[in-house]
Amino acid sequence: MNPLELADTARRMLANGKGLLAMDESSPTCNERFAALGITPSEASRRAWRELLITAPGLAESIGGAILYDETIHQRCADGTPFVKALTNAGILVGIKVDTGAKALAGHAGEKVTEGLDGLRERLQGYAAIGARFAKWRAVIPMGAGLPSAACVVANAHALARYAALCQEAGLVPVVEPEVLMTGDHSLQRCADVSAQLLHEVFEQLHVQGVLLEGMVLKPNMLLPGLNCSHQHSVDEVADATVTALLRAVPAAVAGIAFLSGGQSAELASARLSAMNRRFKSRLPWALTFSFARAIQQPALEIWRGDPGKVAQAQRALLHRATCNQAARQGDYSPAMENQASPIIGT
Ligand code: 13P
Repeated sequence: MNPLELADTARRMLANGKGLLAMDESSPTCNERFAALGITPSEASRRAWRELLITAPGLAESIGGAILYDETIHQRCADGTPFVKALTNAGILVGIKVDTGAKALAGHAGEKVTEGLDGLRERLQGYAAIGARFAKWRAVIPMGAGLPSAACVVANAHALARYAALCQEAGLVPVVEPEVLMTGDHSLQRCADVSAQLLHEVFEQLHVQGVLLEGMVLKPNMLLPGLNCSHQHSVDEVADATVTALLRAVPAAVAGIAFLSGGQSAELASARLSAMNRRFKSRLPWALTFSFARAIQQPALEIWRGDPGKVAQAQRALLHRATCNQAARQGDYSPAMENQASPIIGT
């Protein structure tokens, strides 16, 4: 591990007000999103969609890194250029999802632990050799009566820390993603309590494993009430709860925080990120940015729907979301930006 190089890569991923483009859906998840829009799920359609994303003109102005899936990192553009080369030439760092998914946690019904540590050292070396500079591992924490258990929190935090240490050994920056799910009717306060418990455990385990904080990025959930909670909070209340929890739990040495979107609408995810940066501007020790998948891809996917004639229009929709989120990172997003964009997107 070279600490200076790791810290430099982590900084470059989030430099100049940029964020990350998460496009690392597993093939089954990607197929599900395609099927919902009537897009034929196949290796060819997944490749075409991912090419559309990474070749969007001007993407590198707002995106510092793209997180790929194993299938995707080996694919090529229609003109034969490897995806890794297309991204690297554009100045976008290549990331790779390396967990192998969340599996049932023994003895704990309804809870999961993310797997993928077996053989990870060799896989990381392979990805680094073909040009990856960072990696991602997602832990999922469900909310519900009696959930999550301490067993679920500790097992997932431990796996995240072991993954992060292996990444740094291989010279890759780990994106550490502990996600408290939005599914359920829990309150904002309950999400805050569980998120705090989870973040404390994650940083404890990262410390035990000797992970270099300057050479990692945290990818947490925003603090939100459950989707079925009767009281949905304002944008500013969500921003205050989220940043307050992060300030209490995340060491200042961490290179940056890049949120997942978790099923929020694209506009709300931008508005909440913007409110955090606007209201806490001078008090943030780390970059506070985005690493969205659904909240950055979905509007473009709904335009594309597998139609080669819609590629340019879908790319403009992607660019629009990336630009909105870049503005949000400075606290400068406003819903008016959505209206300004519609004449262009509609062409
Ligand atoms: P969403 O933004 O759609 O939650 O996805 C982020 C991600 O990378 C999930 O692992």
